[in-house]
Amino acid sequence: MALKVSIIGAGAVGATLAQRVLESGIADVVLLDIAKNLACGKSLDLMDAAPIAGHERHITGTDDYRDIKDSSIVVITAGFTRKPGMAREDLIAENARIVRAVAVNIKAYSPGAITIVVTNPLDVMTYLAHKVIGSTREKVFGMAGILDGSRFIQLVSDELKVSRSSIATYMLGSHGDTMVPVLSQTRVSGKPIKELIPEDRLDGIIKRTCGRGAEIVNLLGTGSAYYSPSIAIFKMIDAVLNDRREALVVSSYLEGEYGLRDICIGVPCRIGKNGIEEIIELNLSSEERESFRKSAQTIKSSIELL
Ligand code: NAD
Ligand code: LAC
Repeated sequence: MALKVSIIGAGAVGATLAQRVLESGIADVVLLDIAKNLACGKSLDLMDAAPIAGHERHITGTDDYRDIKDSSIVVITAGFTRKPGMAREDLIAENARIVRAVAVNIKAYSPGAITIVVTNPLDVMTYLAHKVIGSTREKVFGMAGILDGSRFIQLVSDELKVSRSSIATYMLGSHGDTMVPVLSQTRVSGKPIKELIPEDRLDGIIKRTCGRGAEIVNLLGTGSAYYSPSIAIFKMIDAVLNDRREALVVSSYLEGEYGLRDICIGVPCRIGKNGIEEIIELNLSSEERESFRKSAQTIKSSIELL
C-alpha cells in the first residue's frame, strides 16, 4: 500500500504542503477540507502539475474522513488565521472547536497515524489534539520551533552576511512572544553567537524573530505565512517517513522533562519512524531556564481556557 499523508485543511498552509509532499515523491496525499470544492479544485490543479513536475504520486480532494483511513501521517492545518493586531491566543475559542472535531475524526478513521498539529495557537492546539486523539505522546506533536528557528537563522545570516548553513541554534518554548532562543548553544561556524553580535543587535534580532509571524500578517492583510511553515512541516514528515532520527524542535507533551508536566511546548526531539523517538534535555543556562519556565506559564494559562 502506498504511503499516504492526509492534510486536514486545504488552505494556504495545507495546499502548499500538499504540493511539497507530492513533488518530493515521498507519499500520496489526501487533502480534506470542510469546503469540499476547495479541496477538490486544488487537488485537480496539483494533479495537472504532476506530468511537468515529474512525479507519479496521487492526491485526493475530499470532505469525507473515510478517505484518511490508514494514513501514515495526518497534518492538522484546519482553522482560522489571525488578522492584523490579533495574538495567536485570540484564536483559541474558534480553533479549539475545529481542532477538537478534527481530532475526533482522526481517532475514528486513522488512529494509528502520527499527527502533526499546525493550527494556532500551536502549543494549545497540540495539547488539545493529544488529549482528544488519546494516542501515546510520541505520535502527536506540533510544528513551530523549526519555523521560528529558521526565521532566527535567516535574520542572523543577514546580520553577519554568512551562509545560513553555518548557523546552528535551538528555538524552544511557545510559538509566541515568549519563545526561547538557546543562545548558549547557538554557533556560527562553530563560534558562540554572543562573541559575534553585540547584545543590543542580538536582542533586536530575537524581537524581530518573535514578531515575524505578525509582521507577515500585517503585510498580507489577510492570512498568514505559508511558504516557511509548509517547508517546516515537510521537514517533519521527511524525518518520520525516512526515519531520519533527526533532532528537531517540535511541540511535545511533557511528562517531567525540563521539570514540566501536562503541557505541550517546543523542545528538541529526535524524530523518526515512530514519531518522537526521544525528548532531548539540553543544559540550559539559568537565564534560559527562567525564560523557558515563563514561556511554559503562558502556555499553561492558555490551556486553562480550553
Ligand atoms: P487558511 O485560512 O488558508 O486555511 C484554513 C483552512 O481550514 C480553510 O480552507 C478552511 O476551509 C479549513 N477548515 C476550517 N474548518 C475546518 C474543519 N472543521 N475541517 C476541515 N477544514 C476546515 O489558513 P492557513 O494559512 O492554511 O493556516 C491554517 C492554520 O495554521 C491557522 O490556524 C494558522 O494560524 C496556523 N498556522 C500555524 C503555523 C505554525 O507555525 N504552527 C504557521 C502558519 C499557520
Ligand atoms: C506564523 C503564524 C502563522 O508564525 O503562526 O507565521
